[in-house]
Amino acid sequence: MGEKQFGIDNTRLSEYAEQIKEAHEKGVEIAIVIGGGNIFRGVQAEQGGMDRTHGDYMGMLATMINSMALQASLESKGVKTRLQSAIEMKEIAEPFVRRRAVRHLEKGRVVIFGAGTGNPYFTTDSAASLRAIEINADVILKGTRVDGIYTADPEKDPSAEKYETISFDEVYEKGLNVMDMTAFTLCKENDLPIIVFDMNAKGNLKRIIKGDQVGTLVK
Ligand code: GTP
Repeated sequence: MGEKQFGIDNTRLSEYAEQIKEAHEKGVEIAIVIGGGNIFRGVQAEQGGMDRTHGDYMGMLATMINSMALQASLESKGVKTRLQSAIEMKEIAEPFVRRRAVRHLEKGRVVIFGAGTGNPYFTTDSAASLRAIEINADVILKGTRVDGIYTADPEKDPSAEKYETISFDEVYEKGLNVMDMTAFTLCKENDLPIIVFDMNAKGNLKRIIKGDQVGTLVK
């Protein structure tokens, strides 16, 4: 949303694409899962009296809109991409095929996974965890608005302190909010480290790829 109240802020979109391009130029394989909350959230549907599953499917379509916008922005900067959708919409995107996604990555294409997991009740964080495991990713980089995991919510508690590294068990014990529990447990059970970082601070993505200490590492 960037500075906007709703939808896609072109400036922010371009900044994200630029950061992804810079990271990709370092020679790493990158696959991306995007949320859709700037357009529609499944949980909103319930508040409006709509069935949750119906709302979740609408949310999955919202992620496809964001995925297409990111794809276009990356390609306008010369980054080759492939978009795969968890819900078949073959006029718009390839269907999700794991082996094909891996092949695209090997060929240096940035792969965008749209439509979440294709199932209601699963968040895009769960989609990211699932796809990351499927493609044997080394790490999940969770770009958010905060620059890591804190002892308390830094937006509410000024004494909150940031963790540089934290274990999966500590996150459970302390009841910290990193991802929803389904997504988080999937990472833990498959030994997939997570780095939570501020996606809005320019250069962060590149610094992580370089190995700098950015955000919080969960392992
Ligand atoms: P290689 O065979 O590894 O070179 O991969 P490729 O992705 O270039 O080959 P392919 O000929 O399968 O795809 C060419 C273009 O068509 C790419 O931009 C794909 O993303 C796109 N494409 C492939 N399958 C589909 C599909 O089912 N639906 C849509 N909309 N696009 C597709």
